Amino acid sequence: MGYLYPVGNMLVHVLSAARPCCLQPGLSIQSLSHYVTSNGPRGNGPGMLTENRYVVDPDFTFDILRGLARYSGSAFIAALAEAVTRLPRHNISQALGHRQIACKMWLRDTLYDTLGGTFGSIWVVGGWYGVLPAMLFDDERFDVGHITSIDLDPDCQPVAEILNATAKKDGRFTALTADMYKLDYGAADGPDLVVNTSCEHIPDMPGWLDLIPAGRKLVLQSNNYYSEPEHINCVQGLDAFIAQCGLSRIDFQGALDLKKYTRFMLIGER
Ligand SMILES: C[S@@+](CC[C@H](N)C(=O)[O-])C[C@H]1O[C@@H](n2cnc3c(N)ncnc32)[C@H](O)[C@@H]1O
Repeated sequence: MGYLYPVGNMLVHVLSAARPCCLQPGLSIQSLSHYVTSNGPRGNGPGMLTENRYVVDPDFTFDILRGLARYSGSAFIAALAEAVTRLPRHNISQALGHRQIACKMWLRDTLYDTLGGTFGSIWVVGGWYGVLPAMLFDDERFDVGHITSIDLDPDCQPVAEILNATAKKDGRFTALTADMYKLDYGAADGPDLVVNTSCEHIPDMPGWLDLIPAGRKLVLQSNNYYSEPEHINCVQGLDAFIAQCGLSRIDFQGALDLKKYTRFMLIGER
């Protein structure tokens, strides 16, 4: 249902942006509500007030994303518009925050510089909504046979399938609902590259790494963003991350400062 903004200044700003000429200082929430609902969600404003929240019409986001897709010619943005419209109750905005995208772009560029762009099969574990696979398929430098995005949360699969619809149709993408601790990484049809950008979310890094055959290529990201309750395995810094992972070979190690927190990345071999 689009973005939700708490009532207060934010609401007034949003409404002002919609119809600046009609807003008076000191308007009550009730009169704002009446104002917006009587203009209708498809009127000149981008949404409506419901239970003290301003709810932006999903079409508002869809129209903008579709316009941006046309303007940029980006299949990735077109798929995003599709996901926002078809699954409006899935909160995909977090996965598309500027820091998340910066971390994925950092990964994509560094992966290309470090290991090149040709892979037979990639597994992205803790893959969330499948943004990284969509970004890899969207990048002409990469030639990837197949990507599997694996996440414990069943809500992720349908979003990942829409974001990677073209690759899925071509038999090059699969979204799985599964536990990364229960996968057979050594199977004959296993991956040549395993990506885990959710290391801060899993309880036992060495235990998970033990499941992966020696010599297998890995890309790992973690962070020092301790204040997020879901981050149960943050690391203090890059050295702590290196020690936690105990890789047999490291081809890249680095840190990306994102102001609120720092993201750490290792590319190497189990
Ligand atoms: C918030 S998201 C991803 C954050 C990370 N910074 C990123 O951008 O990739 C963390 C994801 O890890 C998933 N996850 C946690 N434990 C998992 C497990 N054992 N197996 C598979 N997925 C898991 C969660 O369901 C969630 O979707």
